[in-house]
Amino acid sequence: MKLETLTVREGNYNLKDYDELSASFDWKEAENHFSWSETGKINIAYEAIDRHAESGLKQKVALYYRDADRNEKYTFEEMKEYTNKAANVLKTAGGVEKGDRVFIFMPRSPELYFAVLGAIKAGAIVGPLFEAFMEGAVRDRLADSSAKVLVTTPELIDRVPVNELPALEKVFIVGGSVPSEEKYVDFNAKMQEADTAFEIEWMNLEDGMMLHYTSGSTGKPKGVLHVHRAMVQQYMTAKWVLDLQGNDVYWCTADPGWVTGTSYGIFGPWLTGTTNVIVGGRFKPEAWYQTIEDYKVTVWYSAPTAFRMLMGAGDEVVKKFDLSSLRHIISVGEPLNPEVIRWGAKVFDRRIHDTWWMTETGAMVICNYPSMDIRPGSMGKPVPGVKAAIVDDQGNELPPNRMGNLAIKKGWPSMMVAIWNNPEKYESYFMPGGWYVSGDSAYMDEDGYFWFQGRVDDVIMTAGERVGPFEVESKLIEHPAVTEAGVIGKPDPVRGEIIKAFVALQEGYEPTEELKEDIRQFVKTGLAAHAAPREIEFRDKLPKTRSGKIMRRVLKAWELDLPTGDLSTMED
Ligand code: PRX
Repeated sequence: MKLETLTVREGNYNLKDYDELSASFDWKEAENHFSWSETGKINIAYEAIDRHAESGLKQKVALYYRDADRNEKYTFEEMKEYTNKAANVLKTAGGVEKGDRVFIFMPRSPELYFAVLGAIKAGAIVGPLFEAFMEGAVRDRLADSSAKVLVTTPELIDRVPVNELPALEKVFIVGGSVPSEEKYVDFNAKMQEADTAFEIEWMNLEDGMMLHYTSGSTGKPKGVLHVHRAMVQQYMTAKWVLDLQGNDVYWCTADPGWVTGTSYGIFGPWLTGTTNVIVGGRFKPEAWYQTIEDYKVTVWYSAPTAFRMLMGAGDEVVKKFDLSSLRHIISVGEPLNPEVIRWGAKVFDRRIHDTWWMTETGAMVICNYPSMDIRPGSMGKPVPGVKAAIVDDQGNELPPNRMGNLAIKKGWPSMMVAIWNNPEKYESYFMPGGWYVSGDSAYMDEDGYFWFQGRVDDVIMTAGERVGPFEVESKLIEHPAVTEAGVIGKPDPVRGEIIKAFVALQEGYEPTEELKEDIRQFVKTGLAAHAAPREIEFRDKLPKTRSGKIMRRVLKAWELDLPTGDLSTMED
């Protein structure tokens, strides 16, 4: 079969020759880009902001921010001052010390970015929380990490069970009214008074920096810990893959509650001294195109679901806007359909470049580079300096075109260093031979392009967001009408997958549409809107193993009309 190939467009890219670079690249070289290679002093927030504020980029716009109520811009010099203020506030009024966990739970706003970078300047480990999380999800994460300080808004504070979190000492409220108890502090009032100078906490490369909670197929969400060293790979991939250059205006659509929104919504662009556009509010095709037109966005990082939604909105909408500034488009989070790439080529006159990575990898791992031919449907090739392979269940490398576990050789710079409080879980990611096993299945073709096949486990990717079935099932059975629940990802043409729940009811409950809606609302308000099942199906009984575990694979087979496979472990 002849594979479809989209050839390279002429351009002066940061990464000129992938094969040549891959053969010779050593991460040691990358370290020379950072001030710490000379000073020996390390802090990623310094490298992202202060270094530029102290150089020729001082007056360059670092951040354009816009939502329904605000329209602002900040230079690197101003970002330095505001993040210093935030660091002073968190340290003085919040008692933040090196290694403390500081959680940021709020919608996008400039203050969110000041708080994240300020906390890092003060030496803290930042836990970003997606604004859609409800009480149960918030409690699990703050409790597991013994968070000491939280920065949130008056709208979200009701979802924080402050009295059930003994480690939580201070809660900063951004904007609006502040409860009178001593625990609460008015963030903006403190910011006004705070000094614009701050003595940065200098860290080691291996000191904690970010704690992202993410879902697996079993158990509660787990805290993936990243360290300051991650900057090396975040920086190089922002160069090679996002191709960020001096005059670029970059827009990453991801929320900083997820890893894309930190690694490439904060660090990638700012480590490279790039102008970063951040837009609050919900997805609307017109508003998105308007953003590109207004800011003359040149480099755009988004996700397949968003591209599919834009495609669904029709080509007529695209034509209403001047999108000629766009020179490079990149995608992450789910399989990028060849059809979407063809659509992008037609309406934007640009190829969309897929990238593969995950929370645990901290930065991009397998990518399509602007100077490399694209095979639509393929995730691309490993980042120079990173070894990826397809391995069997014993850790043996498989030859081309054989499907197996997508694995990465341990030791890439942005690799997670721990699962918070859970060393066994951390160890379980690794296989003999020093392989980190991703949980994805894939194959590699003869030319070294990787092709995604699916998840090996039951993790659901819905609209690019990672949801653990166990978390949803646990919430479902808290509903008074539910005795048993099994949750799967059901293929969906726009969202990749949607969440479908199979539910068995308590005696005495009628299986009505109203009850479905009530159960859906229950998950939405107890866990998070994106984790609520879009489809619910009532069943008298669910398939279980003899030990009582719900057999999701059987549910999936029912749903897709596939053979159910080996049922020998199923109870009678
Ligand atoms: O299954 C893969 C899918 O997203 C998972 C990681 O999710 P998360 O940790 O939330 O990080 C998402 C963004 C970095 C992976 O195990 N995934 C990510 N990128 C791709 C993908 N699936 C197919 N193609 C991709 N390009």
